[in-house]
Amino acid sequence: MDQRVIPVRVREGYSVVIGNGLLHESGRLIRDAIGTCRIAIVTDSNVAKLYLSPLNESLTGAGYDVCSYVFSAGEQNKRMHTLADILEFFAGQRLTRKDCVVALGGGVTGDMAGFAAGCYLRGVRYVQVPTTLLAAVDSSVGGKTAVDLTAGKNLAGLFHQPSLVLCDTDCFNTLSPDEFANGAAEAIKTGILDDESLFSLFETDHVNLQINDIVSRCVAFKARVVEQDETETGLRKTLNLGHTVGHAIEKCSGFTLPHGHAVAVGLAAIAQAAEQLGWATEPISARIKSVLVKNGLPVTTEFSPDALANAALSDKKRAGDSITLVVPQKIGDCVLKELPVEQLEQVFRAGLEDER
Ligand code: GLY
Repeated sequence: MDQRVIPVRVREGYSVVIGNGLLHESGRLIRDAIGTCRIAIVTDSNVAKLYLSPLNESLTGAGYDVCSYVFSAGEQNKRMHTLADILEFFAGQRLTRKDCVVALGGGVTGDMAGFAAGCYLRGVRYVQVPTTLLAAVDSSVGGKTAVDLTAGKNLAGLFHQPSLVLCDTDCFNTLSPDEFANGAAEAIKTGILDDESLFSLFETDHVNLQINDIVSRCVAFKARVVEQDETETGLRKTLNLGHTVGHAIEKCSGFTLPHGHAVAVGLAAIAQAAEQLGWATEPISARIKSVLVKNGLPVTTEFSPDALANAALSDKKRAGDSITLVVPQKIGDCVLKELPVEQLEQVFRAGLEDER
C-alpha cells in the first residue's frame, strides 16, 4: 500500500500520514500516535454524511469512546458563534485535558476545530483529518487556526500544532472538479515556490494518478518552512505567494470566489508583474498561466488593479508603510520583496492589465 509519513519537526513534533484508505485505519494510527483517551470529532454537515461513519467505526474498533459535533457546512459558519457552540459541546461532554479532538473535513473545519482545541481548557490535543485537497496540501499542516470576524477572514485565531495529520487521499474522489482545482492552486503554488518538477506534474494529464506524491511533496515543503518559522515572522511568509492579489479578490468578491481560484489569479498576476518589472530571471508568465488554465483555474479578474490594491492595503499582513510580496524569479525559486505601499498599485497594474 502506498503510504507516506512526513515528520514535522516543530517544538512538539508530529507526523503527517498520507495514503489511500487511511480513514479505515484511523483508529490504529491515532492510538499509535496519542494513546488512549476520549475523542470528540468535529465535522460539518456535508462531510458527516460521507465520512463520519467510517471514522467513528475505526475509532470505536480501536477502543475509543467517541462523541461527535456536526455544524452546518459553509465558510459563513466559520464564526465565533460556532466556536462557542463547539466549546460548550466539549464542556457538556466533560472532555478533559487528556482527551483529544479530531477535525474531519476541509479548511473551515480544521481551522475551527483546531482553534477550539487550542483554547478549550487552555489547550487540548487535536488530530487533523483533511478531506479536501486544499486542506491536505495547506491548512491541515502548520498549526494555524482561526475564525472569521465581521472585519475580515481569519482575524481571530492562534497557533496550535496538531498531534497528527491523517490524509486519506481516497476522500478526494468525492470532490467536485472546482473543489479539486481549489486545492490544485495551492499545490501549483508550491511548485512555483520550490519545485519545478512538482509544477511540471500539473502540465501532464496524470495529476490524479500522482496525487499521493503531490500531497507528500507539498507537505514536505510546508513542513520545512514551518520548522524554521513556526509563527510567520519571516520565511513562512513565502507561503503567501499569489495571496496578496488573491486575498484582495476574495475580499472584493464578498468571499464568493473560492480561495484557490482567487490565489490562481494572484499567481498569474505576480508572475506577469515579475516579468514586466524585470524581477524574473527568465520568462515564467505564459507557462504559469497555461498550467493554471489546464487545471481548471482562472487567471483574470473583473476587479480593477486600484480596487484590489485598496483592498490589499487593508490586509492584516501589511506592516506599516511597507508590504511584503513574494516574487517568483523562476519556477521553483521565489524571494520576499518589501515594497513601499505606494508601489503596490503599479505592481497590480503590471500583473493584471493586458500584456503589452
Ligand atoms: N497557509 C499559509 C500558512 O499556513 O502559513
